[in-house]
Amino acid sequence: MCGIVGYIGGQNAAPILLEGLFRLEYRGYDSAGIAVMTPRGSQVCKRIGRVRDLEAALPRRMAGKAGVGHTRWATHGAVTQENAHPQVSEDGRISVVHNGIIDNAMDLREVLIGKGEMFSSETDTEVVAHLIARSDAACLEDAVLDALGQISGTYAFAVTDAGHPDRIVVARNGSPLILGVGEREMFVASDLSALVRHTTSVVRLDDGELASVTAGGFRTFSREQENTAKTPVRVDVEAEDVDLAGYRHFMRKEIFEQPSSAERMLRGRLDERYGTARLDGLNLSPRELRGFRRVKMLGCGSAYYVGQIGAQLVEELARMPADAEPASEFRYRNPVIETDTLYVAVSQSGETADTAFAVREVKRKGGQVLGLVNVVGSTIARECDGGIYLHAGPEIAVASTKALTHMGLGFALLALALGRVRDLSISDGQRIAAGLNALPGQIGQVLAGEPAIAEIAAGLAAARSLFFIGRVRGFPVAREGAQKFKEVTYRHAEAYQASELKHGPLALIDQTLPTVAIVPDDELTDRNLAAIEQIGARCGPVVAITHPGVPEAATGGPRITVPKSERELDPILLTIPVQLLAYHAARTLGLDIDKPRNLAKSVTVE
Ligand code: AGP
Repeated sequence: MCGIVGYIGGQNAAPILLEGLFRLEYRGYDSAGIAVMTPRGSQVCKRIGRVRDLEAALPRRMAGKAGVGHTRWATHGAVTQENAHPQVSEDGRISVVHNGIIDNAMDLREVLIGKGEMFSSETDTEVVAHLIARSDAACLEDAVLDALGQISGTYAFAVTDAGHPDRIVVARNGSPLILGVGEREMFVASDLSALVRHTTSVVRLDDGELASVTAGGFRTFSREQENTAKTPVRVDVEAEDVDLAGYRHFMRKEIFEQPSSAERMLRGRLDERYGTARLDGLNLSPRELRGFRRVKMLGCGSAYYVGQIGAQLVEELARMPADAEPASEFRYRNPVIETDTLYVAVSQSGETADTAFAVREVKRKGGQVLGLVNVVGSTIARECDGGIYLHAGPEIAVASTKALTHMGLGFALLALALGRVRDLSISDGQRIAAGLNALPGQIGQVLAGEPAIAEIAAGLAAARSLFFIGRVRGFPVAREGAQKFKEVTYRHAEAYQASELKHGPLALIDQTLPTVAIVPDDELTDRNLAAIEQIGARCGPVVAITHPGVPEAATGGPRITVPKSERELDPILLTIPVQLLAYHAARTLGLDIDKPRNLAKSVTVE
């Protein structure tokens, strides 16, 4: 969703801000803008459309050593140039870029209009620019504090004052904000990817925290004006991690990173001798782990689907009741929180508002939450009681791939650890550990089959609508397959339990509606083949994602074969082909694969 950048130092700010905005494009946006502190005051340029449109519109002379920039994903007000950020005070002195939503903006706006203020946009953010400009405070920090005292809502702000061009004041409440520390220069960003080209020394602000940033350094403080001493930390992200590195699309780059990223994720976390997982980050003793009676996974979208894979893994390996629920539903239904249930929040970004809210709800009611999170230091990671970092590296494509695979691995490790303090035998634990160790190489084998998968995908791209079906372990794979396909191809794709076909959806089957069937070689193979037969009898084309042991004659049409894993781990590997199917179908259709329309990489609003 929206993105923030800021720069103050010895260099020309505009190109650095633009570069940062290009890096934030993947998050999804509909307009962009920058404000630069020039010797003649604040100069602002905004455009709807892409950052390249903004770049083309920038005045040639926009020289200044400090400024802020923004990519906007419309919430309050239409997609117009006026509504793009930075939002500016009536006198042009104060520029504000903002992620989040100000809940009482309408009331404040009316009050300000009553006092004679003129507004030039429909945004909630403009209210904040006016409030800061009207403050009697002697310095920008105090003026921002004044304004914060009047607003309620979520925000990450970066504010400049043309009267004091030597500083940027930033504030965070519910929306991420990071400072980057350089050599006599400082950076501000809502997302690490916007600043890792310049520095890997960062400071993450906490909710309720502000910072006054100058070229020489920064001071962090609370809403109560108490200094909050923060020490910069080094982040383990290389500039190349956020570059295309020769790939045409981030989605394909991230799919192909999986063998090495999965190996890295598992390194040191498996104890082959005792057939268990080493997960220090859980902050739970074996006795405490044994004390839980149920497990509940909470996540949104694809993370929720992997949560279903995780719940099945826990049931199979630890024989504990487990289920998954969309965090976006859970948070609104006054859930019963039990202290002997282990809650697990799963999120790539660690910033998904619905998931973060669900975590808070569980904690407020005394529950214990672990996080399976990719972005180190993100909101959800920090708010959970412990967890497993996914270590997938930065994921730029909006359609998640490698992070989901890492979530599957994370759940397998957790299920193994839970199982081994219960009934799972050492030999079964060793079997699962060996299966996990083999997965990175097996992912590589699936990826080697890309040309054949691309050919099948080109055929599927022609269909207006598709089914993805699976049963038990295969069903979350089918859900993820349909999700990935619709996200990047804009084709209607729907997932069903193979067992449910005959209870209704079969009515839609004919030669124009292809089905992608997930058919693992397991105790349910015959049942899955029976569903394929029912589809075939109605002339429905079927593509099977299956194992070598499943007879070719039984799956009929085109098939994608993945290596057999341990049956509990099969869903992780069966998901790899659905990523490639979606990617290549979208390529066939010539779509904007990394930035699908209407979607944002991390959904930080409700
Ligand atoms: C996946 O391709 C989607 N873009 C989306 O469903 C995503 O998984 C969901 O929004 C959750 O995001 P998170 O993992 O960052 O919390």
